[in-house]
Amino acid sequence: MSIFDQAPHRRGTGSLKWDKCPSLQPYWVADMDFPSPPEVLEALHHRVDHGVFGYAIPHGGLVEAILEYLAQRHQVTVSADHLVHLGGLVPALSLAGRAFAKPGDSLLTCTPIYPPFLAVHRDSNLELITVPHVCENERWTFDWERMEEAVTPRTKLFLLSNPQNPLGRVFSEQEMQQLGTFCARHDLILISDEIHCDLIFEEERTPHFTALRLPPELRTRTVTLLSPSKTYNIAGMGYAYAVIPDSRLRTRFTGRRGHLLAEISCLGYHSAEAAYRHGDPWRRKLLAYLKANCDLLTSACREELNGIIIPDIEATYLAWLDFRPAGIEEPAALLEQKGNLFLSDGRAFGAPGHARLNFGCPQTFLREGMATMCNVLKEFRPDQSSP
Ligand SMILES: Cc1ncc(COP(=O)(O)O)c(C=O)c1O
Repeated sequence: MSIFDQAPHRRGTGSLKWDKCPSLQPYWVADMDFPSPPEVLEALHHRVDHGVFGYAIPHGGLVEAILEYLAQRHQVTVSADHLVHLGGLVPALSLAGRAFAKPGDSLLTCTPIYPPFLAVHRDSNLELITVPHVCENERWTFDWERMEEAVTPRTKLFLLSNPQNPLGRVFSEQEMQQLGTFCARHDLILISDEIHCDLIFEEERTPHFTALRLPPELRTRTVTLLSPSKTYNIAGMGYAYAVIPDSRLRTRFTGRRGHLLAEISCLGYHSAEAAYRHGDPWRRKLLAYLKANCDLLTSACREELNGIIIPDIEATYLAWLDFRPAGIEEPAALLEQKGNLFLSDGRAFGAPGHARLNFGCPQTFLREGMATMCNVLKEFRPDQSSP
């Protein structure tokens, strides 16, 4: 019996995942059903017991915990003034568009990709350029040739998700170097969203290479976005941070904040500190549990769900399923209507015919979802044009 086998009921608690469509079984949005580590809960209780919740600033303990985390886990030394504290990563993606490009300029990203990457350009009237990732030797990677063709003199930003949501790839040092060089050659700012970097299953085999470890001449054009939120299941606490080593870039970024971003809550700061300081033993157990879920799902897809393609997942608790070989054009709609399952629709990621499944849940719940999926697929006839 694992601590992750049982999860609190979330239906009716105002949970986005469980209450958006109460009649469906949720395998969609990227939050897990597990309670956060006990040390995080304790830190929150402690802060709540204080009883006063006025405006907060990042306290010394948090900043120290972040700098230690960056040094120990990523072998990166930065100073406290390189950090920009934020209420979430998505606002930072949008702010980067405002800060580093003018209306009419463009940003480049590769698909499939976490949906806000395909939408933030609208916040500052930019053009969006997308290039599909390619699968080479059964591994998703960048299509360098098409990226060279797609980039224009008006392209100012490259948005990266690493580890990649939804593909589950951890890009190698070589890929990151090549991407850094590509950005330098085209004078792009690299926005590197690394929110999933503490959810890597086999770090010896697929280590995370943060954009902060690029050589100095490439690092100066990077904004690295991080948060303990996905790993420790505290996304609802609303805390993330950017690391921007170059002072001019940092000034441009913070200077465009305007009055759009709300103050960050003291609970966000305190839960993040506790997660970084004390969460690692819990994180290791979590990864073992997620890996078992991942293996279960992968073998079910490859052995029982004929025609569904699942990539080798190196990180995250998200599986990117390709239903096209089974003749299914709209898998999320089919699974919803025939199985009451709620998966994320691939179209929002720029890839119809796919769906993303969240396996950050107790194994019994995952098994139930897989069994339902299996039944729906057995009954599906490819001549049904839509579900
Ligand atoms: C790649 C990626 N970036 C950002 C986010 C969301 O970040 P936040 O909740 O801090 O805005 C997610 C959530 O799933 C994500 O997968």
